[in-house]
Amino acid sequence: MDNSIKYIKERISLEPEIGIVLGSGLGDFADSIENKIEIPYKDIPGFPVSTVKGHDGKLIFGKIKSKNVCVMKGRIHFYEGYEISDVVYPIKVLADLGIKTLILTNAAGGVNMDFKPADLMIITDHINLMGKNPLIGPNDDAIGPRFPDMTDLYTPELVNIAENSAKKLGINIRKGVYMYFTGPTYETAAEVKMARTLGADAVGMSTVPEAIIARHRGLKILGISTITNMSTGILDTPLDHAEVVEVGKEVAGKFKELLKEIIEEI
Ligand code: 6GU
Repeated sequence: MDNSIKYIKERISLEPEIGIVLGSGLGDFADSIENKIEIPYKDIPGFPVSTVKGHDGKLIFGKIKSKNVCVMKGRIHFYEGYEISDVVYPIKVLADLGIKTLILTNAAGGVNMDFKPADLMIITDHINLMGKNPLIGPNDDAIGPRFPDMTDLYTPELVNIAENSAKKLGINIRKGVYMYFTGPTYETAAEVKMARTLGADAVGMSTVPEAIIARHRGLKILGISTITNMSTGILDTPLDHAEVVEVGKEVAGKFKELLKEIIEEI
């Protein structure tokens, strides 16, 4: 960790206040950053490297709406075969670099029957179904509590900001519960029914481990899902990763405007 921090600090002059993790198909948001300094994951000592297609891994430091940000373009997924500690490593680095707010974005499958592909959903809470937790192991009390409270995990103040920003821009926005599956398979129709019964509105393969680490470190958290497709069993069409990336690109425009507005208001 110290190696990673040292390497990064030698290359940046700004202290980032907001960290942003870009989900599948949302990488174009990085074009909004001014005075960019890009650091590929593969160059950072100790950093895990993402392998999934469509995720080209780098940290991008710069300014958006005069706020200092660090954008993670490409995230590490558990389904790639990494340890859960690798999945959350970049979040620990961002926290150590001094961010106060973490914005987690992802592509997710719609479970709520009212949702439509290309909807945006503000995450109000999550269900961790993976049976694993990135905080398992010895706890460093200097970093955070042994048994972190999960009340208002997704900061209500940020949910409000996101909602108001969407309203201001005339973007229709959903709110809901995100349920985490490890993947890489999409869910069966029965699993989707289970997710809905348990209170989920969307399902996905990321975000939850990162949110847990961010909470442990006392960061404010905002989560936004792009509903790239309806989950299995809701429509007749089979799921396809290319479709997920495609719809991600389709919503990239409104997503970008919304995120910029939110960053301005934070
Ligand atoms: Cl339907 N499921 C999961 N787990 N992740 C997804 C998805 C579905 N659609 C996009 N990402």
